Amino acid sequence: SNRGDFKVFESRDDLATSLADYVAGLSKSATEGRGSFTVVLSGGSLINALRKLTEPPYLDSVDWGRWHVFWVDERVVAKNHPDSNYKLAYDNFLSKVPVVPGHVYAINDSLSAEAAAEDYETVLRQLAKTGILDASKGGDFPTFDLMLLGIGPDGHVASLFPGHPLLSEKEKWTTFIRDSPKPPPERITFTLPVINSAANIAVVVTGAGKAEALKKGLSDEVHDGLLPIQMVSPKSGNLTWFADKAAAVNIVS
Ligand code: 6PG
Repeated sequence: SNRGDFKVFESRDDLATSLADYVAGLSKSATEGRGSFTVVLSGGSLINALRKLTEPPYLDSVDWGRWHVFWVDERVVAKNHPDSNYKLAYDNFLSKVPVVPGHVYAINDSLSAEAAAEDYETVLRQLAKTGILDASKGGDFPTFDLMLLGIGPDGHVASLFPGHPLLSEKEKWTTFIRDSPKPPPERITFTLPVINSAANIAVVVTGAGKAEALKKGLSDEVHDGLLPIQMVSPKSGNLTWFADKAAAVNIVS
């Protein structure tokens, strides 16, 4: 499809193994090339799909010391709050692998939504100057090696929700919302241009509750305006979908 490479798996377990291979492969080429691997996490069920990376053989074969970890979105709560995307990723993934703590770029939880979004963009711009974050392609946005996205049942990605004015942001790298339909309401999020500038975007979709959103995400049919997932379309990078059978029930291949 012109919507990238679509992979469907019998079970969540098979999906997790293939996803681990995929991430490990991208980590290898990025670390051998630029020397760092910049990977962006989402909240929600995505983190569980990364669990195989915390086990052998990946635990020992991945060059974790060269990973730099970011968040595509974060809720404006303390880092130890049950709603924190950082906490979810730390408890279930990052605490189980030897990443360098100083390479884990959590969103500052002591600031207001607006200030935290600005602060995150400053952090990213600094990393782009040092070359840790690839800015060599020119243009106004950095090239993350890998964006790992989930989809909400309503077709949202990151904290970009259907019909929201943020979908037309053209300049900022990170921004904030105070009216998220998915609680909690205050969030920091990457903008679409940053997402679409990534070298690789993986969309991970599991469970029957995502079947409609996945079907729409793979099509270019417009109903009530394009859904955020339909607007995920890398400018020059690769788009790969990882779905389980339950989510892919409506997809005829
Ligand atoms: C969040 C986010 C996003 C997440 C999607 C899908 O929850 O913070 O908006 O990061 O990937 O909402 O979440 P589920 O996979 O849990 O449905």
